Order: sequence, then structure tokens, then C-alpha cells
Amino acid sequence: MTSTPSPLVDPFARAISYLRVSVTDRCDFRCTYCMSEQMTFLPKADLLSLEELDRLCSTFVRLGVQKLRITGGEPLVRKDILTFFRAMSRHLDTGTLKELTLTTNGSQLTRYADELAALGVRRINVSLDTLDPDKFAQITRWGRLNQVLEGIEAAKSVGLKVKINAVALKGFNEDELFPLLDWCAEEGHDLTFIEVMPMGEDMSPLRLDQYWPLKDLRTRLAGRFTLTDLTERTGGPARYVRIEETGQKVGFITPLTHNFCESCNRVRLTCTGALYMCLGQEDMADLRAPLRASPDDADLEQAIRAAIARKPKGHDFDYSRQKVTGQMTRHMSHTGG
Ligand code: GTP
Ligand code: 5AD
Ligand code: SF4
Repeated sequence: MTSTPSPLVDPFARAISYLRVSVTDRCDFRCTYCMSEQMTFLPKADLLSLEELDRLCSTFVRLGVQKLRITGGEPLVRKDILTFFRAMSRHLDTGTLKELTLTTNGSQLTRYADELAALGVRRINVSLDTLDPDKFAQITRWGRLNQVLEGIEAAKSVGLKVKINAVALKGFNEDELFPLLDWCAEEGHDLTFIEVMPMGEDMSPLRLDQYWPLKDLRTRLAGRFTLTDLTERTGGPARYVRIEETGQKVGFITPLTHNFCESCNRVRLTCTGALYMCLGQEDMADLRAPLRASPDDADLEQAIRAAIARKPKGHDFDYSRQKVTGQMTRHMSHTGG
């Protein structure tokens, strides 16, 4: 009989129970805060195969990961991605994995929502910053709003719970705060706002211009509604308020103005098998080498434990001195947010 391995705990006594997996760095959109228009993507040969991703993720699950979030790039543009979801859903069946979910731009949901739901996905996060078709085209460069709205509708119709993620951008979607809120209330979607983070080398001046602190957004909300702070957490970095007048719950992810690292429970795996211990730090561990070195998982497990032992206390994003410090040269699409 094999003994249960000891769970993953980092040097700050945080148990690592949440793995975010980027299955591709490619995307069918080019959001200005995420990618440049001319992106060079990884050669396909560098990617982990779906079988390798399965082996890696299954090892994490064995070591105590209970929540898997599949991200990208856009996860649903990876070829045969359902094969991977199918593989992961077996851990839902055994009860070792509690949640299998994804963060998506919504463009492929009309095609996949049905099967995702059948494989045990219950909630999905969809990125949507504006409900104005022209602005949507402007911010995503290549996206079409209608396709995403149809995707969200498809998800809703098969019973998937949808959380909308909107990046708060000064001078861009400031005036859409209330329309977005109303639309989510009507549709029954949760809504979370995210402060724009300095990721990717060539876009930082734009970020600084577009940085809209959520404190300000909250003040505007409070001008119209009664807000109650909620203590509940989803295991993610968002803090929530309830709007008493509508009963709606709104989340705020504030990596710049409020640091939530003390309760961090996650690590991130890229599509090439690099494990990032923090979204806002460069340090990573290569898990592809031990994965490929031996069909036995002992080396891999050892490499994972060594990586978790290096998880830093937190990130260093900071716009406060009117220049971006803690600037990350890595693109968000590399680690999947
Ligand atoms: P749930 O709480 O399960 O809904 O997940 P989540 O909010 O962590 O997932 P989601 O993919 O919706 O994350 C939204 C965004 O929050 C990410 O894309 C990042 O921009 C940001 N974010 C998530 N986790 C972290 C983190 O650990 N550090 C920082 N700085 N930002 C994060
Ligand atoms: N800052 C904040 N959020 C970002 N996202 C992508 N790039 C950035 C950034 N620079 C968000 C997307 C999506 C999630 C995966 O990450 O809007 O919701
Ligand atoms: Fe694609 Fe999401 Fe990046 Fe936009 S934010 S380019 S949808 S990965």
C-alpha cells in the first residue's frame, strides 16, 4: 500500500491547494494590457503534451491540490483541450479534486460549454471589460463582442455559473461601471474588478496612464449604493462587497493597492512546465526536465517540493512613485493571470 504523501506547505506556512495551469500561450485576442499585437509564441515543440500535462497535474493533485484552474492564453484554443479536461475530471470523480474550472475570454464557449459542464466544470471566469462593441474591438484588438456574449449565454444555458472579470481602466471603462453592474445583475453573473498590473515589457507607460485604483471605483459605487464588506473568501485574492439595494456581490482584486499575498494558496504552471511560485516574481522551477527524465514520479515530486520551499512572501508591484516598479517582463498570457 502506498502511504499518502505529506501536503505542500511553503516556508510561510501557507498550504498550496490551488494550481493554475496555462495550457497554451496563444490566444485569439490581443488585449492591449496583456499582449502586443505582434506576439512571438512558443514553438509547439516546447509545449508539454496533453499527456504530460495530465501527469504533472495529477502529481499536484496527489500532493494535495484541490482546485485546478485552466488558463492560457486562451485555454480553449489549444487543440484537443477537452481530452485534458476529461483526464482531470477523473480526479473530480474520485473526490481528490474539489474544483475544476477555467478562465477564458469566452470566444469558444458556444462550442465547448456543454461538454465542459458534462465533465464537471461548475463555474467559469470570463474576461469582459466593456459592453460597448467598438470599445471591445479596441481593447481586444481582434475580438468581437457578440461572439463572447453568445458564449456567455451558452455557458449560462448549460448551468455554468459565470464570473465576469473586468480590468479597471481609467478613461476606458470608468463610465461603464454601472452598466456592467446592471447587466451582471440582470444576467445573474458575479462581477469582479481587477487593477491593471504591470506585465509585459513594452506596455508599461500605457499601464501607468490607465491605472484606475479600485478605491476610487468603490467610492463611486458607495455614492449610489449601500456597500457591506463581506468576510467570505473564495480562496482567490478577491475581496467582496454586497450591494444592499440589489443583493449583488462585487469583487475587487487589488494587487497594487492592497496586498493579499499573506493568504496566497496558489502556484502557476506554464504550458512548458515552468512552475512560477508567484505571479509577481521572476523565480521559477523547471518541472519539464524531471518530468521527462524518468517515467517514475519521484524526481518530479522532489522538484515540486523544492520549488514550494522557495515560494516568496509576496509580489512587489507598486505604481505609487509614479513609475512602475516591480515591472514584470513576462506577459500575463505566459502564466495565465
Ligand atoms: P476564483 O477566486 O476562483 O474566482 O479565482 P481567481 O479570481 O483567482 O481567478 P481569475 O482567473 O478570475 O483571476 C483573476 C485575476 O486576478 C487574474 O487573472 C490575475 O489578474 C489576478 N490574480 C489572481 N491570482 C493572483 C495572485 O496570486 N496575485 C496577483 N497579483 N494577482 C492575481
Ligand atoms: N493586469 C490585470 N489583469 C490582467 N489580465 C490580463 N492582463 C492583465 C494585466 N496586465 C486579466 C484578464 C483576465 C485574466 C486572465 O487576467 O483580463 O481576466
Ligand atoms: Fe487573450 Fe486573455 Fe490576454 Fe486578452 S487578456 S489577449 S483574452 S489571454
